[in-house]
Amino acid sequence: MRLGLFGTGYAGLVTSVCLAQLGHTVTAIDKNPDIVARLSDGVPTIHEPGLEELLTSNLEADRLSFTTKAEDAVCASDMIFVCVGTPPRSDGHADLSQVEEVARTIASMLDGYKLIVEKSTVPARTAHWIDWTIRRLAGREREFDIASNPEFLREGSAVRDFLHPDRIVIGADSERARSLLLDLYQSSFDCPIIVTSVTTAELIKQAANAFLATKISFINLVSDLCEKLDVDVTTVAKGIGLDPRIGRDFLNAGLGFGGSCLPKDVSALIRVAGSSGVDVGMLKEVERINVARIDRLLGKVERALWVLPQKVIGVLGVSFKPDTDDIRGAPSLGVIPRLHSTGAILRVYDPAAVRNFERFHPPDDRLSYVASAYDAARDAHALVILTDWNEFRSLDFGRIRTLMRTPVVVDGRNLFEPSQMQAAGFEYYSLGRGDVSLHPEPRRERT
Ligand SMILES: NC(=O)c1ccc[n+]([C@@H]2O[C@H](COP(=O)([O-])OP(=O)(O)OC[C@H]3O[C@@H](n4cnc5c(N)ncnc54)[C@H](O)[C@@H]3O)[C@@H](O)[C@H]2O)c1
Repeated sequence: MRLGLFGTGYAGLVTSVCLAQLGHTVTAIDKNPDIVARLSDGVPTIHEPGLEELLTSNLEADRLSFTTKAEDAVCASDMIFVCVGTPPRSDGHADLSQVEEVARTIASMLDGYKLIVEKSTVPARTAHWIDWTIRRLAGREREFDIASNPEFLREGSAVRDFLHPDRIVIGADSERARSLLLDLYQSSFDCPIIVTSVTTAELIKQAANAFLATKISFINLVSDLCEKLDVDVTTVAKGIGLDPRIGRDFLNAGLGFGGSCLPKDVSALIRVAGSSGVDVGMLKEVERINVARIDRLLGKVERALWVLPQKVIGVLGVSFKPDTDDIRGAPSLGVIPRLHSTGAILRVYDPAAVRNFERFHPPDDRLSYVASAYDAARDAHALVILTDWNEFRSLDFGRIRTLMRTPVVVDGRNLFEPSQMQAAGFEYYSLGRGDVSLHPEPRRERT
């Protein structure tokens, strides 16, 4: 099939590369000329395992091209995917201005039947607004359909997730749209395909993300209770998660959820449900618990180091999760400025995301970006772990101990066994498990 796609960010780039890999001819548009130039040269604009190989091979096979000119894609395609951003507005609603802009662009170029497919995560009923926008501008007689085909890929494993989905959701209100999307997917995938209405598909995506966020906040609430009861949250999570009705994924206590999707999608669902008169108290608690994780971690840092000005702190990880350079919604955006404001000296390391973080927080006399975890540990009074990169799991902690001024680790991701860190000679603070601390005072929790 000839496919067009608007927006080559994290979701759109993976989608366009993978659709080309499935044998379709994809023309992807981005309004950012730098992104288009780099992608046309085969240079990935995001860090995503497996992406570069597929990008170059599909460019060489002439199945994939990038352009800033919308007409190149709209006129040449039967189906147009909308993958532009839907970031949060300051009032918590999804900002749909990029989606509206695409609708207006398509309306000005309609030259025959097109299927316009929402892949961006949008509030329920957004398709109605797109339909209305296009009809108003292009005329009621124009032939097109709007469908919803939400994307469930996860950054860090996005290529694998796209090519091996656990389900595909197709929201279509016309037979023509349904059969076009079924043709696209049925020949390539044997996973369950849920065919439903457009509004249902839109809601499935937002509800899925809200549920995942709820699971994370739930285990973090249990984690706080575990600390009071001297119980290890990891064991509790295992005991809960082996129940197949619950499942083990997303039951890792720690710094909470971040990224460009979960926080904004919970927030948008709260606004949509709230304005429909539905009680959204539960989702507000999910948000509140998540935001409080930052205070929880900073409390541990203070307890571990007491006076913070001029203390050297190595920070490991700024991306919101491992295997990505994405820092949107990352806990590091909350933790690092607050540590910096205490007067501490910060040495920050991340395997992929420093370039993005530097734009937000340029280096200064108390904040530097270093080339390895060992450099972050050198002369440090404490190491603070913010992202669960695999690389951190396999660090040589014997070497780290000799590099550090005081062997203190504050682990926001519960990467290590407290007993092993104690045996390795560290004071070790984590979340929801007993702290290994030489602190002279008994712990007094704030009430
Ligand atoms: N990032 C993820 O892991 C993920 C997963 C599933 C769904 N989603 C959803 O996909 C959507 C996109 O997310 P993202 O993370 O890729 O966003 P992003 O901000 O990384 O990318 C958006 C891209 O769209 C481009 N753009 C904006 N307006 C345009 C226009 N009028 N014409 C052409 N290009 C335009 C921007 O230049 C940018 O490159 C969001 O709704 C998000 O919720 C994201």
